[in-house]
Amino acid sequence: MPKIVPLNEEVTFEEVGVVGRPIISKTDLKGIITFVNSAFCKLAGYDKSELVGKPHNLVRHPDMPKAAFKKLWETIEKNEQWRGFVKNLRKDGKYYWVEATIQPMFDENGNKVGYISARKPVSEKDKEKYEKLYKELTQKEEK
Ligand SMILES: Cc1cc2nc3c(=O)[nH]c(=O)nc-3n(C[C@H](O)[C@H](O)[C@H](O)COP(=O)(O)O)c2cc1C
Repeated sequence: MPKIVPLNEEVTFEEVGVVGRPIISKTDLKGIITFVNSAFCKLAGYDKSELVGKPHNLVRHPDMPKAAFKKLWETIEKNEQWRGFVKNLRKDGKYYWVEATIQPMFDENGNKVGYISARKPVSEKDKEKYEKLYKELTQKEEK
């Protein structure tokens, strides 16, 4: 897949018509996407067929610090719920902010089969806060 050039341009829930809708994705245990709903596709700017079967880092934005995802995986691998603020990269290079929760899914025998994530919009105040925080963290990580 061609590399996406990030643009400093935001897309909001309002602009893609997903206000009040759940933004859902599911993965296997390794983070390969197994399901996305149509609101997720609208927000990320992809068709379903372009997402299912791909690693979830497809929407990873370069402004996100590695430490955030390290904590995410440590938390969900312990079968705990992770909640956090994420700046994501759309197919068109624009970005969108979400407040995400991720938790494990189990089958009827209690075996862990994957993870499910739901997202909601982020306030302008929190966007500013996390933009700043993540900038500091990514700059530290580059050193
Ligand atoms: C259910 C689930 C949903 C995820 N959603 C996102 C997401 O929206 N954006 C993102 O950058 N990473 C998401 N991740 C984390 C990615 O799997 C990945 O760890 C992250 O993008 C960093 O990429 P890397 O691990 O290749 O460094 C999700 C993981 C899981 C299990």
